[in-house]
Amino acid sequence: MQALVVYETIWGNTEQVARAIATGLRGTFNVDVMDSETAPNVVNTYDLVVVGGPTHGFSMTRASTREGAVTERGAPQAPERGIREWLVALTPPGRAVAATTFDTRVNAPRLPGSAAKAAKRELKELGFDIVVKQKSFHVHGYEGPLIDGELDRAEQWGRDIAKAASATENGLH
Ligand SMILES: Cc1cc2nc3c(=O)[nH]c(=O)nc-3n(C[C@H](O)[C@H](O)[C@H](O)COP(=O)(O)O)c2cc1C
Repeated sequence: MQALVVYETIWGNTEQVARAIATGLRGTFNVDVMDSETAPNVVNTYDLVVVGGPTHGFSMTRASTREGAVTERGAPQAPERGIREWLVALTPPGRAVAATTFDTRVNAPRLPGSAAKAAKRELKELGFDIVVKQKSFHVHGYEGPLIDGELDRAEQWGRDIAKAASATENGLH
């Protein structure tokens, strides 16, 4: 079975989480990991799609928040196309492809709002089957690093998703 993990990142924290999730999925899935700038707009050859990005302004990033990260917070660069824009460009898969979402967020203070929740709503609208509830991973400050244990948690979550998605595939969902 084939899985696609799509991530957006400014400082690299979300990419690290994406790669740990992919590690957890391997064994059950052949996994492609792609950033939101290069990910394909047609994903119906995949059995599972996992999408994640940083939370900006209580939701998915926007061009303005990405630019703010560079001009006001010293980020080296920001992607032109984040997951918000990738989801807009995404072709509805035409069948209920299994999916879930994740995000990264500041650890303290814990703020309301989540990129993962917003992305999940978009995937549902497009007809994806959300097989596992979205998950958040936490960073210190805005630029990270991830708090201790998050990459282990991400890898374990990858294994949990694999289990749920293959149960769906086998009609057990
Ligand atoms: C402009 C901007 C707005 C942000 N807004 C939020 C927010 O509303 N809630 C939150 O938890 N974190 C917020 N953050 C922190 C990001 O979630 C954090 O930078 C991100 O998780 C780091 O991941 P990355 O290295 O993959 O970019 C914001 C960061 C920036 C730059």
